[in-house]
Amino acid sequence: MVDMQRVALVTGGAKRVGRAIVERLADAGFDIAFTYRGSEDEARTLTNDLAARGRSAVAIQADFTQLPGAIDAVENQFHAAFGRLDVLVNNASAYSPATLAATDLPLMRRLWAVHAETPLLLAQRFATDLRRSRGHIVNMVDLLAEHPLPRYLAFCASKAALANLTMGLARELAPEVTVNGIAPGVVEWPDEYPEAERQKYLKRVPLGRPGTPGDVAETVLFLCTTGNYLTGQILHLDGGRSIT
Ligand SMILES: NC(=O)c1ccc[n+]([C@@H]2O[C@H](COP(=O)([O-])OP(=O)(O)OC[C@H]3O[C@@H](n4cnc5c(N)ncnc54)[C@H](OP(=O)(O)O)[C@@H]3O)[C@@H](O)[C@H]2O)c1
Repeated sequence: MVDMQRVALVTGGAKRVGRAIVERLADAGFDIAFTYRGSEDEARTLTNDLAARGRSAVAIQADFTQLPGAIDAVENQFHAAFGRLDVLVNNASAYSPATLAATDLPLMRRLWAVHAETPLLLAQRFATDLRRSRGHIVNMVDLLAEHPLPRYLAFCASKAALANLTMGLARELAPEVTVNGIAPGVVEWPDEYPEAERQKYLKRVPLGRPGTPGDVAETVLFLCTTGNYLTGQILHLDGGRSIT
């Protein structure tokens, strides 16, 4: 029997952690569709890199605050390119600080749309494909979903919704599809993060260093290949930060 070519869809895949996930899955033999919002140049470069490695690769522009139009675009462009889906990685994210006083409805709705509505709608649209391929969903959660930061109230709450959705979808889509989450501590610092803040955070990380995008990518690959008996789990990828 000839092995079918497996296909992965990664949201927010043009740079940083998403890009590492795309590259690792491509190296493992997956064809790739990924979404980007504003990083058009990075998306083009990545698509060309993947094609040069012999992978089919499609970049889809989508702003997940624009629902349901963005989901329609992803669904249509994905199905125009590929006839199956094996892996969905919900990685796109908006890391937006706001104190209680500064948190307004537009911010809350944006974060909810990107972190909760979009993963749910994508699971709904691709459920048939994923069931058929006995596929996998991986949701990029955050340690802050369990340990909220006061300056990131709406962000943390929306990631907590994604953690809950991970468990709900795992039940709904079983037994054909596994659904898991990865909750990183720090795996790539936000741009311009102060050195003093970095050191303060690392003091409470037993392994004494930040993780890397590669650590995330390896964990995604594991959950989508050999980690077949895991579902509904949120893996803390944090160097032990959550046990301190
Ligand atoms: N970095 C860390 O240490 C860390 C820690 C904990 C959790 N995580 C989680 O791990 C994942 C990857 O982390 P990251 O730091 O690489 O994420 P990131 O850079 O904050 O965001 C990833 C991508 O999301 C896309 N995005 C933002 N707003 C969007 C919107 N409205 N619609 C569609 N796409 C949108 C952006 O695409 P464009 O660039 O194309 O605009 C961005 O490149 C995220 O889910 C994050 O919450 C990361």
